[in-house]
Amino acid sequence: MHEVDEESRYISDFYAYLEQPENETRYAPTLDWLSRRFGQTRFSLLDVGCGHGQLRRFVPPTCDYVGIDHSVHAIDRCRGLFPDGEFHHLDVQEAIGLWGPEGRRFDAVVFAGMINHMVEKDTLETKSDRRIMSAYIERLSKPGGYLSLIVGVPYRSDPEYGFYPQAAWKHDKVGEATAGLPLDLAALTLTAQLGLEERIRQQRQRPDWFIERPEDATPNRHTGAYIGALTALFRIRSATATRLDG
Ligand SMILES: C[S@@+](CC[C@H](N)C(=O)[O-])C[C@H]1O[C@@H](n2cnc3c(N)ncnc32)[C@H](O)[C@@H]1O
Repeated sequence: MHEVDEESRYISDFYAYLEQPENETRYAPTLDWLSRRFGQTRFSLLDVGCGHGQLRRFVPPTCDYVGIDHSVHAIDRCRGLFPDGEFHHLDVQEAIGLWGPEGRRFDAVVFAGMINHMVEKDTLETKSDRRIMSAYIERLSKPGGYLSLIVGVPYRSDPEYGFYPQAAWKHDKVGEATAGLPLDLAALTLTAQLGLEERIRQQRQRPDWFIERPEDATPNRHTGAYIGALTALFRIRSATATRLDG
């Protein structure tokens, strides 16, 4: 899956699909819920694995946004795009070690496109989603704060890779990542861009990220194009997460 190293993905256009306007909708449920929950009250939001900082574009002015990513290219780009933004070049676990002891905690922690995608930069070994979630709840979240998991749901025309089977699979992944953690599900939604494929087919110039038959695509090019997203928003029950062994 991770045949391309993490920096190359940002040097090439591998992640370009994440910036396409068609895919911006993945953040909408989270921002809608948080805006309604916090109203005019300021709140802090940590965007874990922020990539090119797309989420930063949509947060309300009352949000104190912080983005972290282990890609130097991604963070440099974020700093160029949002000169007044707070971005850190950090591994997910480094952030815990850095801010945990300082007591820096966030009202909302967002993992967008991160389930199954958190890796050791050098070895590309996949990190345990559940272990990371547990640590973020315990060390970096405010009690009563929110954890949002946004998972892209790409799909194809064949039944096995259809939209709902994919969404069900992603739902299971969210369940595995959060099993036994002190979380209450506050909202769960599946956003689809119905008719998007047809609209794209009608365009004179198709977006280059759109692959009609993903099975024809080379393995490292836009194979993750979102067309839908599953969002699970959790309320954090207490600051004391279930400690995992090891
Ligand atoms: C699929 S992209 C999602 C980017 C962004 N959140 C979005 O929704 O557009 C996954 C991101 O996670 C970052 N990432 C992967 N493993 C990481 C780690 N261990 N620490 C920090 N960032 C990581 C990658 O560099 C990449 O930007």
